[in-house]
Amino acid sequence: MLCRCFLEYILHDALCFECYEVNLDMLSKMLSVTAKPCFGECLKHLRYSWPRHRKHNTIIDSTKTKQENLEARQKEIMACGLPKRKHIKDVKQIFLIASGKGGVGKSTTAVNLATALKIIEPKKSIGLLDADIFGPSIPVMMNIYESPLVNQENLMEPLVNYGIKCMSMGFLIDEKSPVVWRGLMVMNALNKLMNHVAWGSLDYLVIDTPPGTGDTHLSLIQSLFITGALLVTTPQKVALEVTRRGANMFKKLNIPIAGIVENMSSITCPKCMTEVPLFGNATLSLAKELDVDILQKIPMHENIAESSDSGKPIVLAAPKSKQAEAYRELAEHVVTFLNKQEINDE
Ligand SMILES: Nc1ncnc2c1ncn2[C@@H]1O[C@H](COP(=O)(O)OP(=O)(O)OP(=O)(O)O)[C@@H](O)[C@H]1O
Ligand SMILES: [Mg+2]
Repeated sequence: MLCRCFLEYILHDALCFECYEVNLDMLSKMLSVTAKPCFGECLKHLRYSWPRHRKHNTIIDSTKTKQENLEARQKEIMACGLPKRKHIKDVKQIFLIASGKGGVGKSTTAVNLATALKIIEPKKSIGLLDADIFGPSIPVMMNIYESPLVNQENLMEPLVNYGIKCMSMGFLIDEKSPVVWRGLMVMNALNKLMNHVAWGSLDYLVIDTPPGTGDTHLSLIQSLFITGALLVTTPQKVALEVTRRGANMFKKLNIPIAGIVENMSSITCPKCMTEVPLFGNATLSLAKELDVDILQKIPMHENIAESSDSGKPIVLAAPKSKQAEAYRELAEHVVTFLNKQEINDE
């Protein structure tokens, strides 16, 4: 598995710009520089199997530019190596919480959305997957500090709190240890979290993603049927710029965007209780540009941060608060969106 992912990556880079063929010598050098000797075995396999791939070579079209031919060839190679998208058995819909930017409140939104979904749809079964391998937040925010058991089918049993089935890298590693892994190990860990968990039957699986538009997002999108994505951003220009990149990634990969959550959009004056907007309203122009709605504006409030830190999402810790109300409304918008999307019946 590791070897295959690795080869997919480097095949892309080792494509010759002159003849549109994979340059096996270059590949060999890349392997010896970047990988352990065991990948030499992969190279042998590739030397053997490459002629098979060559049969399907793109015919070089003389009416196209070199760059266009190269792109067509790269697409073909990538398509050969890409994993097939799969449904997770008995998981009806998968919903990503994302933003290009870090620290904007993705995890806070994910836990409050998952718990709010459970409140408004108590009969539905809900899962929460923390796909942030390097900085998992779900254990703290959901107050879960155990390790999952492995069942007879060799699948990890999700840990349950507040009626939500949760899985996170944080359950598998020591709380204080940093994860110092490179790409392939991260992808392998992600694969375990996606495909080696006994989710059972789930109506919604909410996935909290790390910041950025990198390996994790691509792996999730390329290996799972994602029903939709929710973009979380704060209203500052720098956050919005990066959120735009995230949105464009989803658009390119045909993942429907449910809308935007503008987090930390305002503060309430503790004396006169007036809502004071923070950082302007540039989110609206981004929403217009992307042709999506701002589903909710979540104020910046110390109770939200405190409840996350104490491991009880605000929708449960202070259900009557305005902040909890905002998350419940968000959950209703998300259900409306999901109801219009495809459901996995496998
Ligand atoms: N609306 C809010 N009001 C007050 N504090 C908030 C709010 N939203 C998030 N926070 C706090 O901001 C911090 C960052 O939030 P969070 O961890 O959810 O962001 P993130 O986007 O998931 O970060 P990362 O990119 O590192 O995964 C947390 O301490 C959280 O409690
Ligand atoms: Mg997070």
